[in-house]
Amino acid sequence: MIRTHNNGELRLKNVGERVTLIGWVAKKRNLGSLVFIDLRDRYGYTQVIAKEEDFENLNQIKNEYLLQVTGLVQKKDTPNPKLATGEIEVAAEKIEIVNTSEQPPFIIADETDALEDTRLKYRYLDLRRPKMQKFLMKRAAICRSVRKYLDNLDFIEVETPVLTLSTPEGARDYLVPSRVKKGSFYALPQSPQLFKQLLMVGGMERYYQIARCFRDEDLRADRQPDFTQIDIETSFLDQDQIFEILEGLVKQMFEDVNGVKIETPFKRLPYVDAIDRYGSDKPDTRFGFELQDLKKYVAQIDVAALKQAAAFKAIVVNGIANSMSRKNLDGLNEISSKFGIKSLIALKYLNGTLEGSFTKFFSESLKKQLVSDLKLQENDLILMAFGPYEAVTSSLGAVRSYFGKTLGLIKEGTYDLLWIVDFPLFHYDEQTQSYTSEHHPFTRPRDEDLKYLDSDPTKVYGYCFDLVLNGYETLSGSLRIYDQKVQRKIFKILGLSEADINRKFGWFIGALKYGTPPHGGAAFGLDRLTMILSGTENIRDVIAFPKNLSATCPMTQAPMPVDEAQLDDLGIAVKKSEE
Ligand code: AMO
Repeated sequence: MIRTHNNGELRLKNVGERVTLIGWVAKKRNLGSLVFIDLRDRYGYTQVIAKEEDFENLNQIKNEYLLQVTGLVQKKDTPNPKLATGEIEVAAEKIEIVNTSEQPPFIIADETDALEDTRLKYRYLDLRRPKMQKFLMKRAAICRSVRKYLDNLDFIEVETPVLTLSTPEGARDYLVPSRVKKGSFYALPQSPQLFKQLLMVGGMERYYQIARCFRDEDLRADRQPDFTQIDIETSFLDQDQIFEILEGLVKQMFEDVNGVKIETPFKRLPYVDAIDRYGSDKPDTRFGFELQDLKKYVAQIDVAALKQAAAFKAIVVNGIANSMSRKNLDGLNEISSKFGIKSLIALKYLNGTLEGSFTKFFSESLKKQLVSDLKLQENDLILMAFGPYEAVTSSLGAVRSYFGKTLGLIKEGTYDLLWIVDFPLFHYDEQTQSYTSEHHPFTRPRDEDLKYLDSDPTKVYGYCFDLVLNGYETLSGSLRIYDQKVQRKIFKILGLSEADINRKFGWFIGALKYGTPPHGGAAFGLDRLTMILSGTENIRDVIAFPKNLSATCPMTQAPMPVDEAQLDDLGIAVKKSEE
């Protein structure tokens, strides 16, 4: 037997037993002629104690050597309350070095100051850290809970192709060249969207898949180029029924995985209100600082640029006015300028007076009105912005989030679940004068808005929704178009010619002609969910072998140039880069 127990298992009741353990050396300490070794495996640590004179190989043993130890369990004189096995130790009778180890490039413990790229390069060592193991176990627990819940509700797990055609979700595709059909390419799916809809045409009624998705887009702390969705589709249900299933799933998952009870139904907030009140379509509503509208004061302020501005709004941050230096304010401007407002108007409410250079444009009565309308209290900081609506809301939204995080207003371990509903179907880009889908092109327009499809597509709202958890978009879904004429029209509004529609999506639209059922569904980002339920803010922590922010794997060095012969096989010539 390689081992009789794991390293997290032994307790006082085992005292006197002869046991065999196997594990990596997490720590070795000498105390006179006694040597203490902490053995580590997935289940925990056990302290082994050995007399130097009894073993020839003790000197050779270093960190991360794999040892098999047989010995007697004994009670420790001074228990270690930090370890589950802290009341016992194993007095070694036999120590075998099963495998040696080079010195690892970083200390393998929860606390590490190793650079992330070093950890990713030696990910197999990083994964030995108990913290990383807990992340992956949490991920597995989520999948287990999801399968249990959906299986119970009659959902069928179906796999869909990875080598396919473009599935438009708004990112660039990863392409795979075909050897057999030279010059042609598969695209890796950005999501299983079209296939799950075809499963509904195929009569499956309830589908799910824990599906890999691939998107070539700019990476962030909550984005990976290959990531995983819990992908769901149903037939014959309306939006409320779909919400009920999804809320039940979240409730079950939180209870199974974190032992947390959450209330259903979740709050709902229309998209337009989310932007207006929080400057974001994924607000964290665990703290206030809502955007306040100041448009009604414009007539009283003699600033020409303000009169032309589409929006004039403010947030009030309580209790920080006197600690705000010029440098702090510059930092806030750096945040807001990314969203189009170069310089926020900062006012302070100190000693019962509204201070700040912009107040020179305010009459005494306007000042009074502002103090009362904004419910100002001593030491409040007021940040105002005016300009285009999107720039104003998103800038103040970003500053609001910054304060929510940095002022420690968010209680750890709390969960804020919020449906964002009633999204517009399209986003109009002034620069390119073109429409893009707010969700994706398969989202069903609201029946009452169909009449605007020809005249003014910006007036069309969709049956679509996001689920926001602690300020992260963790799910997105919708009812789908099941009328092929409407689907064609949407593609046209998105700028596709008739020829393009037929070439790229003819196969899909064709299917809609065969008695397609009303259907709808959604997809959770599994990585994001795991991240939030694990209490980390880095998506890479919950993925075994992730890419870094340059979409590269520091361990395998993927992506890499390939041999000429392979390129020849594919009929591909690589253009020389300009550098
Ligand atoms: P969407 O594109 O919003 O919708 O994706 C659904 C969820 O997947 C997660 N997600 C990501 N997670 C990590 N890295 C990424 N690059 C990434 N991109 C998305 C998010 C997001 O909410 N087919 C539709 C769903 C549907 O309509 O059923 C879709 O893919 O948590």
